[in-house]
Amino acid sequence: MADIIEIKNLTKIYGQGKENLCVLEDVSLSVAAGTFVVLLGPSGSGKSTLLNLIGMLDKPTAGQIFFQGREITAIKSETKRSDLRLNKMGFVFQFDGLLPEFSLLENVALPGLMNGKNKQKRAQELLENFGIGAISHKMPADLSGGEKQRAAIARALCNKPLLLLADEPTGNLDAARKEQVFKDFAALAKEGITILMVTHDVHAADFADVVYTLQERKLIKTK
Ligand SMILES: Nc1ncnc2c1ncn2[C@@H]1O[C@H](COP(=O)(O)OP(=O)(O)OP(=O)(O)O)[C@@H](O)[C@H]1O
Ligand SMILES: [Mg+2]
Repeated sequence: MADIIEIKNLTKIYGQGKENLCVLEDVSLSVAAGTFVVLLGPSGSGKSTLLNLIGMLDKPTAGQIFFQGREITAIKSETKRSDLRLNKMGFVFQFDGLLPEFSLLENVALPGLMNGKNKQKRAQELLENFGIGAISHKMPADLSGGEKQRAAIARALCNKPLLLLADEPTGNLDAARKEQVFKDFAALAKEGITILMVTHDVHAADFADVVYTLQERKLIKTK
């Protein structure tokens, strides 16, 4: 299949002058559509940085990122960037990022609403798939960390993204739930959704098609 993501010579340096920190150095990567990619690496190695760059939430110091053949690092308009994000990408942030003033159901349906669509039915189905359908009316503050994390995954899938960027989506889940999410992601990849998942759980590698480890500013293919 054609490559959905192509990264060419990507460098990210935070800060300036003496205070600067080079997190990614000349990183290149190609991901075929429908691949489940797992990204491992020590804390502080730049995994979230890489995901944020692909999701256009931050800009690289040098290099290019292509999404479906289009250079997204060259898109200047914030409206175009957010449209692309909303319609083609789903995000699960490292910290769930649910909006506290909305119920679970409303949170999960929100990406649809931002597109002018009522996605409550799909949101409820997704919540049921993740075992939290019965509590969809609850507010995030009244839920466990793992329940919120599963809701965040459901929300990322609301608009049927082509690319799912998931930053440690299973950190608060027990072993069985974790494995279920890895299996779900593998199944979604078989349906054609490309998944880039950051994790500290090496067990995830068993479910992935491809595994990269980020270490000392470089990406190393380990599966
Ligand atoms: N906005 C920023 N400004 C300056 N430095 C930053 C910024 N964001 C991240 N960093 C630094 O860049 C490095 C990489 O951070 P990043 O969050 O990408 O790591 P990570 O691999 O996701 O780590 P973790 O596994 O702990 O989530 C860290 O040393 C961090 O302190
Ligand atoms: Mg991180």
